Amino acid sequence: MIKKWVLIIFFCLLFVLLGGVLFNYFRRDKATTGKSGDQRISLPKPVLSSRISIEQALAQRRSIREYSSEPLTLEEISQLLWAAQGINRPGGYRTAPSAGALYPLEVYLVSNQIDQVPAGFYHYNPEGHAIEQLLRGDFRYELSQAGLNQQAIQNAPAVFLITAIYERTTAKYGPRGRQYVHMEVGSAAQNVYLQAYSLDIGTVFIGAFHDDQVKRLFNLASEEQPLCLLPLGKLN
Ligand SMILES: Cc1cc2nc3c(=O)[nH]c(=O)nc-3n(C[C@H](O)[C@H](O)[C@H](O)COP(=O)(O)O)c2cc1C
Repeated sequence: MIKKWVLIIFFCLLFVLLGGVLFNYFRRDKATTGKSGDQRISLPKPVLSSRISIEQALAQRRSIREYSSEPLTLEEISQLLWAAQGINRPGGYRTAPSAGALYPLEVYLVSNQIDQVPAGFYHYNPEGHAIEQLLRGDFRYELSQAGLNQQAIQNAPAVFLITAIYERTTAKYGPRGRQYVHMEVGSAAQNVYLQAYSLDIGTVFIGAFHDDQVKRLFNLASEEQPLCLLPLGKLN
């Protein structure tokens, strides 16, 4: 009789344990904050000098929609991600301003041809200066379809996706917080433009895409809003 109860308790515990493991496995890619993926790639430290001055970058910057097929390097991607939302001083402050330092933006990398970065969808972790793979595979075609078939998206060796979680800012500033978030994405994108130009890399701010298709493609949570795509590739 006792043996039977021991067996029942054992199987109940096993079910609970297995349930927990499966639950964590399936929810992993859905998480919006504190994302942790299959594969984590530490990025090289950002370099704080440049071949051109900030004035030259401002004078020469333009939107570029055609790229060389040469792969980007991990150093270049590291530099561009840091320019977008990297940490630049103690206290967790970043390279782009943020209303109340609340940091509503998330930066993702779609890797198509980057040395040492297998094709896939990655989340940028500013605190660790690392990327974490959330999805594997080639998303070029589907992403360009979501972006009204813009060829810059299809042909770029890499694409940044910047999303926002409005709630982080509206919780403090109310409805006006949405405007703040839109201003912030402009700052982050301009940082990428200027950094890209200094590395002989071209980019273009893409705002024309179907939000729902991008959200579905990358399994984004409902409260996360895609705001901008930045294809990136070496200048021809
Ligand atoms: C909010 C916003 C959305 C944009 N969306 C697109 C887009 O979907 N596709 C595109 O090719 N360019 C897009 N652009 C880039 C503009 O077309 C470009 O900045 C403008 O033509 C000025 O050229 P310049 O950036 O070379 O100075 C966008 C720019 C901004 C600021």
